[in-house]
Amino acid sequence: MKLYIWGTGCGAGDLVDRWFDPAEIEAFIDSQPSGASFLGRRVLRPEEVSADEEALILVASRQTDEIASLAAACGIASERLLFLKNNWQLRDRNAPYPSNTALPAGLLEELGKPPRKVRDPLWASGGPLSERDLENDTVRVRTLEALCRELDSVPGAAAELGVYRGAFARCINLLLPERTLYLFDTFSGFAKEEAASCAPGFAAAHENTAAERVLSLLPYPERAILRPGLFPGTASGLEDERFCLVSLDVDLEESTLSGLHFFLPRLSPGGYLLLHDCLSPALPGVRAALRRYEQETGSRLHKVPLCDINGTVVISA
Ligand SMILES: C[S@@+](CC[C@H](N)C(=O)[O-])C[C@H]1O[C@@H](n2cnc3c(N)ncnc32)[C@H](O)[C@@H]1O
Repeated sequence: MKLYIWGTGCGAGDLVDRWFDPAEIEAFIDSQPSGASFLGRRVLRPEEVSADEEALILVASRQTDEIASLAAACGIASERLLFLKNNWQLRDRNAPYPSNTALPAGLLEELGKPPRKVRDPLWASGGPLSERDLENDTVRVRTLEALCRELDSVPGAAAELGVYRGAFARCINLLLPERTLYLFDTFSGFAKEEAASCAPGFAAAHENTAAERVLSLLPYPERAILRPGLFPGTASGLEDERFCLVSLDVDLEESTLSGLHFFLPRLSPGGYLLLHDCLSPALPGVRAALRRYEQETGSRLHKVPLCDINGTVVISA
C-alpha cells in the first residue's frame, strides 16, 4: 500500500526520522507547500491526491479539523487518513481507520497512549516528583519544579502558609531538600470568623488533617519546622527570616492579606511566592487580598498568572 504523509513541518520530519525511510513515502501533502519536494520526495496539494488510490495518508499536523474538511472536499475517504497529532481528538478521528495495517507496530501503539506529560529534557530520566505528585495539578507542580531550579543562588528558607494535608508541601520538600521548610497551618481548618463566610462542607473538609500526617508524608521531615496555630500569630519570632520560595494557599481574604504582608517584604531577590487560587472565581477573596496589598503598600507587584487548575499567580521579588 502506498504511504503519504500530510504535512511538511516538524511533525512530518520527526515522523520520518523515527519510523520511515523517505524512500518509503510516496509523497507529502501540503495545502500551502513551500517547495516542490520535502526530504527528497514530492509535495502534492490535497487536490492532486488521487481520490480512488489504495493509499494510506498519515496526518502529521495538528490542523486536524481543517485537514479532515480539505480531504473530504477532495473526495479522499476518511478511512484513508490516520491522524497522529492533536491527541485529544485522535480516538474519534481515527475510528474509521482499519486497524489491520502494515504500519510499524510501535507507531500504532503510540497512538493508543494517553497524552504525554512533557518532561524537561534535563530530567528526562525521571525527576524527583512521582506521577502521583504530578497527576493532581500538573501545571502548578511542574511550575514549582521549574521555579525551584532557578533558586540555586537565592538565599532563604522555603515556606507554605496553608498546608492542609501536605500534598504541595511534600513537593516543596522533595525539590528543595537543603532548605528549611516552614509549615504554617492551624492543622484544624480555618479561623472561625473567616470560616463563617464559607459553605459548611468546604470548612469542614479542611478540618480533616493533622500535623503528624503531614510530617509522615515528607521525604525530608528533618528540614520541616511546623508552626501550628492561627497565622499571623505563628510567624512571631521569624521577623528576621528570609525566604526563597513561599506557597501561600489559605483560600480566604484576611489570612491571604496577612500572608502577603508577612512574606513579600521577606522574599529574597530572585525568590518566588506562589499565590494559589488567585484567579479562581470560587475564592474571590484571594484576588481581593492581592489588590488590597498593592493599594496598601503602593506597590505594583511582578505577577505571572498560571493556567493551572485553580489560577495560581506567581509573584517574583
Ligand atoms: C486549601 S488548604 C491548603 C492546601 C495545600 N496548600 C495543598 O496544596 O495541598 C488551606 C489551608 O489553609 C489553612 N489556613 C487558612 N487560614 C489560616 C490561618 N489564618 N492560619 C493558619 N492556617 C490557615 C487551613 O487550615 C487549610 O488547611
